[in-house]
Amino acid sequence: MRIFSGIQPTGRKHLGNFIGAIEQYVHHQDQGEAIYCIVDLHATTVRYDPTELRERLYDTAAILLAAGIDPARAIFFRQGDVLEHSELAWLLSSVTAFGDLNRMHQFKEKSGAQRDLASAGLFTYPVLMAADVLAYRADTVPVGDDQRQHVELMRDIAQRFNARFGETLVVPRGVYREIGARIMDLQEPARKMSTTGGTEQGTVYVLDDAATIERKFKRAVTDSGAEIVRRPDKPGISNLIEILAAVTGRSFEDVERAHAASRYGDFKAAVAEAVVERLQPVHERYDALRADEPALERVLREGAEKARAIAAPVLVDVRRAMGVGPVG
Ligand code: AMP
Ligand code: TRP
Repeated sequence: MRIFSGIQPTGRKHLGNFIGAIEQYVHHQDQGEAIYCIVDLHATTVRYDPTELRERLYDTAAILLAAGIDPARAIFFRQGDVLEHSELAWLLSSVTAFGDLNRMHQFKEKSGAQRDLASAGLFTYPVLMAADVLAYRADTVPVGDDQRQHVELMRDIAQRFNARFGETLVVPRGVYREIGARIMDLQEPARKMSTTGGTEQGTVYVLDDAATIERKFKRAVTDSGAEIVRRPDKPGISNLIEILAAVTGRSFEDVERAHAASRYGDFKAAVAEAVVERLQPVHERYDALRADEPALERVLREGAEKARAIAAPVLVDVRRAMGVGPVG
């Protein structure tokens, strides 16, 4: 089984990324042939600074390695290093319905936030994402809940390609964590935790120090009443239960039972402590990894070579099926 996922190099990675995606990547390394990519081409679709992009890319690479991605077991690379992604995106755009792209929630959210330019790249973002996965004939795509619509679209694109040009691509399946696929903002638990859409105090970053993490949880919005249970009218407490369950690998029921007699304040402190404990080894490894940019660069380049060895023959098949480029 082949696994593929991508992560943006923009902004700082937060607890939602860590629980919903990064922990899954590490887990899936042992489940099959895992391929992980930092998507710098996607990052150019919104306003950005080129120098910053490189810095954030190294930050992201170091976070993923610190979290446990092992380049000896998984292919780990930078999207922009493998030109096949861009070419396949163009070719797939011909079997992508304009109307489908027009329905993408993420485009609507992000384009509204761009004051100077809502780019065509932002609109076709999901086609590049489909190309990322389909270039490797990956079977599964571990992502957070907010990527469901994009995964459905890539399935449609693969199916439409195969129907029109003959069986060429694998139709991938999204994989979502049962606990932690959608971590909410600590200040506004009706919104997902996010670098762009959330609140600063309600977003816990992977690299926040222990004191900052404790403060953010202490100030987390809770609900009226005193019970520690997951219920639709208790979004704040439900989110904290979910975070605690995810970072400790326990069930919701376990967490609810263990804290049935706790007060909100004590419960929040317990969640903070578990998150700090979970992130501490990541912090320790991060500093050493981030300090050595040439080593990060080496890892990414070696990963790109392995990635290209898989993607290039797929592109040969795609070109042949579509009648594009030289014969043979
Ligand atoms: P991004 O940083 O936007 O590339 O997201 C990386 C991964 O984190 C994707 O698989 C997202 O679905 C996932 N993700 C982002 N926000 C959250 C969240 N609040 N809860 C769970 N997963 C998330
Ligand atoms: N769009 C994804 C996100 O914002 C990132 C991404 C790009 C991705 N290409 C991918 C995820 C391919 C999975 C597979 O989180």
